[in-house]
Amino acid sequence: MKNIILDVDTGIDDALALAYAVHSPELNILGVTTTFGNTSVSEATRNTLQLLQLLGAENIPVFHGVEETFTGRKPAEKTTWIHGENGLGNAQLPPARKQVENMKAHDFLISTVHSYPNDITIITTANQGNLARAIQKDPEIVHLVEDVILMGGAVTVQGNTTPYAEANIYHDPEAAKFTFQSGIPMTLVGLDVTLKTLLKRSTLDDWRKKDTLLSHFLANMCEFYMDAYAERNSNLNGCALHDPLAVGVAIDSSFVKMKTMSVHVITEGKEKGQTVGKDNEDGNMKVCMDVDVQRFVDHFLSRVCLDS
Ligand code: BDR
Ligand code: CA
Repeated sequence: MKNIILDVDTGIDDALALAYAVHSPELNILGVTTTFGNTSVSEATRNTLQLLQLLGAENIPVFHGVEETFTGRKPAEKTTWIHGENGLGNAQLPPARKQVENMKAHDFLISTVHSYPNDITIITTANQGNLARAIQKDPEIVHLVEDVILMGGAVTVQGNTTPYAEANIYHDPEAAKFTFQSGIPMTLVGLDVTLKTLLKRSTLDDWRKKDTLLSHFLANMCEFYMDAYAERNSNLNGCALHDPLAVGVAIDSSFVKMKTMSVHVITEGKEKGQTVGKDNEDGNMKVCMDVDVQRFVDHFLSRVCLDS
């Protein structure tokens, strides 16, 4: 079993990633940390607690991140048009019985890395703020983490927030610049691969037929996401499994082909949030360049909607 921490801005595809991870026996989820992006931090925390309850995984502790960027700016507006007013495509879940933990997200990251030296993978599916704060407070942790698998960036393709920038990097480019330069091992799962892995509308019907609380919730939530894209005439025929692919890479890295590169983040001007990569065998991260789409999507679908 691989020990992991998930760092999320739950978020529709974050919710799919959480369900996939909870249902994967290869992963031991030690905790979930939250941040802003698709939603505010408190909404991401609320959504995460409610979802873990639905998944029968309330035992997994949830830790609240900081409500501002690494350089102290207010977060950008949440993306209600794609993730809904509540972050879950307006699909409803019962209130959570469990509370968020008292410890801050970055302190949890630091203490858990020390408890599992060289035996922990951090999967980030949101901005890099929690990880950046953890490394800033305790730089030693960069030598104790097995890998950081991050959904973020677009090295060979256009961005999705601006023509240059992918959303998770755009939300806090200074944090990403800091973690990318920190020396922590990283695997970048960017739009280069995630835009190839799509959930099709027909899957929603399959889920509704299963007729469980989870299957209806997933179908309602993903329908909102698909409608949002369709309304804007996207040529994506379905919704992209961005965050689930990062979990997939943690379970089985053979889903993707990677290349070692030097990647840096632009923090100013119209290219703000762009991830610029150069081939370099001694570079700072492995970058996913291609994905075995069918094998990954089948694997994801075989797990995400299991009964708890
Ligand atoms: C990423 O941005 C967020 O909106 C999604 O949850 C995903 O993590 C895709 O660019
Ligand atoms: Ca996300």
